[in-house]
Amino acid sequence: MPDKDAAVIAAVAKGLEGVIAAATSISSIDGTAGRLTYRGIPIEELAANSFYEEVAYFLWNGQLPTQVQLDQFMANLVSMRTLPDNIVAALKLFPANSSGMDMLRTVISLLSVSDPDEENNSQESNRRKALRLMALFPSIIAGFHRVRNGLEIVPPDPVLGHAANFLYMLTGEKPDPVKVKGIDLYLVLLADHGLNASTFTARVIAGTEADMYAAVTGALGALKGPLHGGANQGVMDMLDEVGSLDHVDAWFDATMAGQRRIMGIGHRVYKTEDPRARVLRRVSDEMGYAVGKHDLHEMALRIEQRALSHPHFVERKLAPNVDYYSATVLYYAGIPLDLFTTIFAMSRIVGWTAHLIEQYADNRLIRPRAQYIGPDYQPYIPVAERTVEKLAEVAQSLHMSMSQS
Ligand code: ACO
Repeated sequence: MPDKDAAVIAAVAKGLEGVIAAATSISSIDGTAGRLTYRGIPIEELAANSFYEEVAYFLWNGQLPTQVQLDQFMANLVSMRTLPDNIVAALKLFPANSSGMDMLRTVISLLSVSDPDEENNSQESNRRKALRLMALFPSIIAGFHRVRNGLEIVPPDPVLGHAANFLYMLTGEKPDPVKVKGIDLYLVLLADHGLNASTFTARVIAGTEADMYAAVTGALGALKGPLHGGANQGVMDMLDEVGSLDHVDAWFDATMAGQRRIMGIGHRVYKTEDPRARVLRRVSDEMGYAVGKHDLHEMALRIEQRALSHPHFVERKLAPNVDYYSATVLYYAGIPLDLFTTIFAMSRIVGWTAHLIEQYADNRLIRPRAQYIGPDYQPYIPVAERTVEKLAEVAQSLHMSMSQS
């Protein structure tokens, strides 16, 4: 490797652990203290006093809105809730067993073609796109669920707030205030979270000056994975597998013996309890009683207690992350299991777009390096001379020369 390249490439940080790859003023995480703030306000204060629409305004604008600004913002949001015709048509094309995240990723990509301003990356255009995306996520998710069940799409109700209107469009019924509050709190808590995998993906795409729809489509792809947003569904699958409180101990011992991971536990940044998990544990407890299914919460609690007193988790500083009690909260709110991760996306759209606005405002192509660990040279063998034996011989000599260097 040429000296100047060697000087540029430091040791590989696997998974980019600890690498600072962007500057942001949107949210801040202290993984040791278990603290999360949105633009300096602790998440617990926002959970206790605010609501999702206000948090969205705050994250995008950097200041809390006055009442007049908030009213205007909410009126603009409501005016953008109706699904475009091409999206309604597209929702009818998905097989009923399609994954919610595959549907969302595809439909958000399609949304770009009904936006005449798609390629315009100005601040003004991107703020309007961000609002359009926030307004349409609930309509798309609810519309998909209605269509796959052979039901009519429920038009948005302009009188209802973001969380209430989503539940209304999903079920066609007047939403239960306990469920509305649970969903609203969930949306507030998950709206942004530093340079997580999906937000990083979005910023990398924006760094090429591709449009906001392209960046959000990529972010949705990253969120789907079980090590990121897909874990909330994984937690529910796990609770389902356990079955009942009296099975927890046997299940936990078998899981540890099989060296399986417990979904919703562990985090790259938090080395203590995720502060969002603390709020969601309380909400899950309350909702469990309210909907008459507290046994599920007790099961989650018991698994958590077993994990937190087991050396494997103690030594590695593993504790519940946001997805752990998200699972029970979403279940209690009546969200179908296979839509759990789409609700994560419905919240995080605000954080993704806040980061995109920040990235476009001070952009530079994001293009790191990889440390090449392959052979320095290998001969090109013409196809006429390639036999299985010859290729094996070349592979063997490359393996030997690399293990000697
Ligand atoms: N259960 C059991 N052991 C675990 C768990 C878990 N959930 N998570 C991590 N560990 C152990 C690993 O086995 C590893 O042990 P080792 O050092 O003996 O090899 C050690 O802790 C470190 O694990 P890594 O995978 O290197 O940690 P990393 O920071 O790369 O991963 C992650 C973090 C992906 C969140 C991990 O903790 C995990 O897989 N958790 C379960 C999935 C989950 O809940 N994902 C949601 C994360 S939050 C979010 O994205 C919204």
